[in-house]
Amino acid sequence: MTLDLEFVRGQFDQLADDPTFVFASNAGGSLVCNQVNSLLDHYNHHTRVQPYYPFSPSAEAGVAMDRSKRLWADGLAVDEDELTLGASTSLNTYVLSHAIGGAWGPGDNIVVTNQDHEANVGAWRRKAEERQAEIREWQVDPESGLLDPEDLYALLDDNTRWVFYTHCSNVIGTVNPVAEISRGVKSRSAARTLVDGVAYAPHHVCRLRELGVDAYVFSLYKVYGPHQSLLYVSRDMQDSLQSQAHYFLADDVSKYLNPAGPQHAQVAGCAGVIDYFTALHEHHGGTGVTTDEQVAGAHALMHAHEQALTTPLIDYIEHHADLRLLGKRHTRDGDRAPTIAFQPLRQSSASLAAALVAAGIGAENGDFYARRLIDALGLDPADGLVRISLLHYNRMEDVDRILRALNEALA
Ligand SMILES: Cc1ncc(COP(=O)(O)O)c(C=O)c1O
Repeated sequence: MTLDLEFVRGQFDQLADDPTFVFASNAGGSLVCNQVNSLLDHYNHHTRVQPYYPFSPSAEAGVAMDRSKRLWADGLAVDEDELTLGASTSLNTYVLSHAIGGAWGPGDNIVVTNQDHEANVGAWRRKAEERQAEIREWQVDPESGLLDPEDLYALLDDNTRWVFYTHCSNVIGTVNPVAEISRGVKSRSAARTLVDGVAYAPHHVCRLRELGVDAYVFSLYKVYGPHQSLLYVSRDMQDSLQSQAHYFLADDVSKYLNPAGPQHAQVAGCAGVIDYFTALHEHHGGTGVTTDEQVAGAHALMHAHEQALTTPLIDYIEHHADLRLLGKRHTRDGDRAPTIAFQPLRQSSASLAAALVAAGIGAENGDFYARRLIDALGLDPADGLVRISLLHYNRMEDVDRILRALNEALA
C-alpha cells in the first residue's frame, strides 16, 4: 500500500495556493491540516467563550478541549492526566525545569547534549547552575554531528538525576535510538530521562510507554496542528513535581505544569491532527481499531513515502564534492528523517539557500537554534548550514526540483 498523495495534499488547502512552490522548511513548522482549521474555525465562530461553565456554548467549548486531550492520550497510548498542553516546547521545558529542578543540589549532576535545540538545553542548564548541580555534556562527533550512546553511559553515575536529549536532531535529521538508550540509562543509574520529540513527531508519533522515558515533549505546530506543545510526564513522577500552578490548584495534577492556563481554541484544535491521521488510515483501508493503532498505521504509510523522498537527496549530497553532509550518510536503517543539513564548501550557506529560494524552493540556512551543535561542527554560527526539510505531503517532483536547483547553484 503506497500513500495516496492526492488524498494527502487534499487535506492541506494551503498547498493549493501556489502548486509550483516547493515547501522545504517543514522542520520550522508544518502546514496545518484542514481538520484542524475546521475545528479552530468552529470554536472561534461558535464557542468562543470561557469554557467549562454549565451553559451553552461554554459547555461545548469544554467538550471540544477535552476531546483533544482524550484523543492525544489515546494516540500516544498514555493517560490524560500525564499530558499538559502548553504554548510551546520552549515554555514547557522552562516550566518543567522549575517543577523538577528544585530537588537538585550540590553533588547531583544532570546530562544535556550539544546536539539539541536550545529549548532542551538552556532551561536545564540554568536550573542546574542555580542549584549548584553539575552539568555534564554528552557530545556529538564533530564531523557528523551524531551522538554515540556509549559516550552517554560513560557520563552516568549514582548522582545523575536526569538525562535530557533529543529523539531526532532538528538539524542533522538522524534519529537517536530512544528505547535502547532508556534501557542503557536505567541499567546504569537511577536517572530520569526527558526526550525532545519535536523533530521526530512530524514523522512518527510514538506510543510513549514503549520508549521507556519519564518525560517527552513535542510541538504540535510542526505536526500539522495549532501552535501548541504536548508535554508528557509519567504518572510515577507526579508526586515529586513541584506544582507551578496557583496554590489553590495544588490538588489538580493536570494544572501543575501550566501556569499560563490553556489556550482554549488552540487546545480544541489539537484534536484535528488525530482526526487527520485517522482519515488517512481509513482512506488507505487501515484496519486499526484503537486510536494508537490508527496513528501507527498512518505513520507507516508516511514513513515509506518520506524514505523514498529522502534517499535521492542524501545520495546526491553525500556524493557531491562541494557539499559536506551532516548526520547519517545513508537511509538504509530507516532512521533518517527527511531533514537534511549540509555545508556548501565553495560558497556560503546563505548564498546557496538564496539560490534555492530564487528557484522557488522554500529552504533556509542558519543555526536553527541548535547553536551548540553548529559550534561543535566548527561552523560559522551566522551562516550555519543549509537545511532542506520535507514531510509526507511533499512530492517526488519536489525532490527533482530541489536536485535540479542544487545542480544549477553548484555548477
Ligand atoms: C528539536 C526542537 N526542539 C524544540 C524546539 C522548540 O519548540 P517551540 O518552538 O515549540 O518552543 C524546536 C523548534 O524548532 C525544535 O526544532
